[in-house]
Amino acid sequence: MQPKSEWWHSAVIYQVYVRSFADSDGDGEGDLTGVRRRLPELAALGVDAVWLTPFYVSPLADGGYDVADYRDVDPRFGTLADFDSLIASAHDLGLRVIIDVVPNHTSSAHRWFRAAVESEPGNPERARYIFRPGKGPGGDEPPNNWQSIFGGPAWTRLKRPDGTPEEWYLHLFDAEQPDLDWSNPEVHEEFEDVLRFWLDRGVDGFRVDVAHGLVKDPALPDIAPGQRADLLDGSTRLPYFDQDGVHDIYRRWNAIAASYPGDRALVAEAWVEDAQRVARYLRPGELHQAFNFEYLVAPWDAAALRGVIDRSLAANGDVGATTTWVLSNHDVPRHVTRFGDGGTGLRRARAAALLTLALPGSAYLYQGEELGLPEVTDLPEEALQDPTWERSGRTRRGRDGCRVPLPWEGEEPPFGFGPADAEPWLPVPEEWRSLTRAAQRADPDSTLSLYTAALRLRRGLHNTAPSSLTWLEAPSDVLIFGRGAGFVCAVNLSEQAVEIPLHGEVLLSSEPRSGDRAPLSLPPDTAVWLRV
Ligand code: GLC
Repeated sequence: MQPKSEWWHSAVIYQVYVRSFADSDGDGEGDLTGVRRRLPELAALGVDAVWLTPFYVSPLADGGYDVADYRDVDPRFGTLADFDSLIASAHDLGLRVIIDVVPNHTSSAHRWFRAAVESEPGNPERARYIFRPGKGPGGDEPPNNWQSIFGGPAWTRLKRPDGTPEEWYLHLFDAEQPDLDWSNPEVHEEFEDVLRFWLDRGVDGFRVDVAHGLVKDPALPDIAPGQRADLLDGSTRLPYFDQDGVHDIYRRWNAIAASYPGDRALVAEAWVEDAQRVARYLRPGELHQAFNFEYLVAPWDAAALRGVIDRSLAANGDVGATTTWVLSNHDVPRHVTRFGDGGTGLRRARAAALLTLALPGSAYLYQGEELGLPEVTDLPEEALQDPTWERSGRTRRGRDGCRVPLPWEGEEPPFGFGPADAEPWLPVPEEWRSLTRAAQRADPDSTLSLYTAALRLRRGLHNTAPSSLTWLEAPSDVLIFGRGAGFVCAVNLSEQAVEIPLHGEVLLSSEPRSGDRAPLSLPPDTAVWLRV
């Protein structure tokens, strides 16, 4: 099979968490102008596209995934004119731009939800959301037992201004994120128009937030007692995730994207059961890519990784879709920290980068992984902003530790994230002094230099290599595969150095090497790219 023609099939897409990327105006939060000014550094890294997390008008109850106006930029992130300049600069640099669309829920500050609250039960204003009477005496109990992914019940009861309680509304996430009712045609029309609004402004695609959640089982049945309902846990079937009806929505969206010139990509965030359920979102005429979360959650283990890789390629191959690879994002602890303590985590992360970037398909990088940033695990409690912290009764700290502002340059926090006198929205650790982009640029052995070299080589590889891989014979706990034209990737996941039965030129190594004589020795937790 030869690589397909649309740009996304082999693209490396860099996730910009806008609030934490670069602060141009000194309010402590990243913004669109900050992103625009730093784009040349992403072009120099060698990525093909950026994905921008939500920058829409929002009270930021969930970091902007609570959208109050889908067609405008929040003043703290800039203006529509700033967005247009960003797109123009990106395109000048040869970078595509994908943005988030958040269709499962709005913010409670959205005009639709305000109108719903002001109207009466049974009115059309209520029919855009999922309002239901409560159960039990006085309707005092929620309509069913669903739990919010951030903790606590998934239902909140409305009160009239005089305090009289009335209907409940559903929110799979925070109470400030009421779920929309996708059985209402008005909701479809609204989002189709939102897509067109941004496509007309030149975006190259959308990342569809909670793509598996829009349609609920209309009976709203209780879930089994004790059933886990975590966003990151697709292992059980739930009446509000992965319902068949979602696919009709994406067939319509596909037609809209296809009606625009150029290739406009639709990418699913769908935490569902397994690779085959994910692939259903990628059937012809639906979405184009989905995040490979099975790969993201896989342990640092050769058999486990090989299993995920095979299952992903097979499931996506069956529907003719490209496979994606992702190690981190703004919702999970950074993989340097997931993979191990101290130096081990970083060593494995660097090896994992070479594995990920050698696989056939498309890769998503999360901002800061190219710097080898670890999770910040000791943010002071008063700094925590993820709704998970309060909704879990302060038992789960949430996702702020992977959202700490990026270190760019200089000797003192916030390391060029914003002006020196502006306090960033989350504190930046002093120890990141040695991890700034400027510090790493000067060091040929840095993680940034490794990513930059890997992305440069990868471009050549993906232009010529087949969109499949061949596993080669390997010692236990070692993965070795070829991609045609003599390219081989070998990863040692064991605790000992291993000799690998190959002769060839080392193109790139996840750790500095000296003296590459045959047979090739691979230290623990390292990866190499070879020309054999
Ligand atoms: C997605 C986002 C996450 C957000 C949630 C609700 O999972 O990635 O950050 O909290 O949707 O919109």
